[in-house]
Amino acid sequence: MAHDLEKAIREKKAVVGVIGLGYVGLPLIRAFVAAGYRTMGFDVDSTKVEKLLDGQSYIGHISSEWISECVKSGKFIPTADMQRMTEADCLLICVPTPLSDSRDPDLYYVEQTAKQAAATLRPGQLVVLESTTYPGTTRDVVLPLLNESGLKVGTDFYLAYSPEREDPGNPNFTASGIPKVVGGIDDVSSKLAQMLYADAVVNIVPVSSCEVAEACKILENTYRSVNIAMVNELKMLFDRIGIDVWEVIDAAKTKPFGFQAFYPGPGLGGHCIPIDPFYLSWVARKHGMATRFIEVAGEINTSMPQYVVQRLGEALNEQGKPINASKILVLGIAYKKDVDDPRESPSFVLMELLQKAKANLSYNDPHVPNMPKMRHHDLPAMESVPLTEATLKAQDCVLIATDHSAYDYDFIVNHSRLVIDTRNATKNVKSGRERIRKA
Ligand SMILES: NC(=O)c1ccc[n+]([C@@H]2O[C@H](COP(=O)([O-])OP(=O)(O)OC[C@H]3O[C@@H](n4cnc5c(N)ncnc54)[C@H](O)[C@@H]3O)[C@@H](O)[C@H]2O)c1
Repeated sequence: MAHDLEKAIREKKAVVGVIGLGYVGLPLIRAFVAAGYRTMGFDVDSTKVEKLLDGQSYIGHISSEWISECVKSGKFIPTADMQRMTEADCLLICVPTPLSDSRDPDLYYVEQTAKQAAATLRPGQLVVLESTTYPGTTRDVVLPLLNESGLKVGTDFYLAYSPEREDPGNPNFTASGIPKVVGGIDDVSSKLAQMLYADAVVNIVPVSSCEVAEACKILENTYRSVNIAMVNELKMLFDRIGIDVWEVIDAAKTKPFGFQAFYPGPGLGGHCIPIDPFYLSWVARKHGMATRFIEVAGEINTSMPQYVVQRLGEALNEQGKPINASKILVLGIAYKKDVDDPRESPSFVLMELLQKAKANLSYNDPHVPNMPKMRHHDLPAMESVPLTEATLKAQDCVLIATDHSAYDYDFIVNHSRLVIDTRNATKNVKSGRERIRKA
């Protein structure tokens, strides 16, 4: 069985199925199409599937032309029919792994997908979990569900974990250019998964087990969360003693070894850094341990929006204005620069805090024309307002929450009365600096 799949991969005749066609799944399809594979994409969201079938992209950095061409040529078959999973030789799972309301891992989507895969599993298929999760998920959650098929892992089907390291909005790295860590449940599964990815990505990093690969991804994201928390805390301290933290970091990063620059901001955003470390804390609690770095980093990072609003309040106060009834324009609701993804964006927390203080709010984001209704945020439906001279002049305060490259910061500062800059986005602005407050 393994031999047949090995041959199919070697000859690029294996059909690669990706389950979950979101920010991770769609770029992965692109990497496999570029490597010469035929691909299938599965998603329970039939609106997404219809868009793809119609040649339309819903992700900024994936072009509609590319989708249209691949769908027409049959290199990419999008479908909402999960029964068709049996047609793919390899199934790569890229579904969401959020937190529950009590901040515990919510594996609902992974479990649903594993059940769907089990229902149509056939001998010779390779299943790889890519969703970010805690060490043990592939073996303890996915494998038992696949076992329901009656097939045996290692002889009938194969199972591995390989974390996705997609960095949306980063033009220097696409899915195919990022080394891929691969850990199989057994040696055969490891070998097959390595062979498959070796064709589509620049470099394979084999590890000894699924658990090591799972832990690797969480380590990477925890490392970022902890370091961002450290510079966020230093930002508040340095600000109090009149030192610009961004200037300090720019100086420190000239050290050619032993220092990597992380930057402060208005709070963590996105689907990974604010969430994944808590998957590890949950495992730690199960083993009677605490992950103190993760908890402290979480506390500092989640308190950043309050700090920004406090600084904004002080700056308005200097001008004799309260936040109440002040016109405040928030620039950027995507969670980071140059992406169209607003999930877990700190901008929503900032806007909620400002709304509570009765500010008169509006927002602009060239990548997010309509503010989507977010499950955990109580904000009215809004549309991005045009960023004109008149809009800026009408504001009491402009709050830069996301430093999109599309913004003309000279223009923004030039026409605003007060600018609160949480990203050091205005660092090159020469005139009107007296109107800028970093926060
Ligand atoms: N977005 C990132 O930058 C990034 C980077 C690295 C890793 N990850 C991880 O990758 C995983 C996916 O993240 P994403 O950002 O692509 O999520 P996403 O929400 O953009 O996409 C997930 C897709 O899965 C679909 N889906 C849900 N349940 C399904 C099911 N049972 N069957 C088929 N499709 C289903 C959803 O409809 C959605 O389209 C998560 O674990 C995330 O932590 C994300």
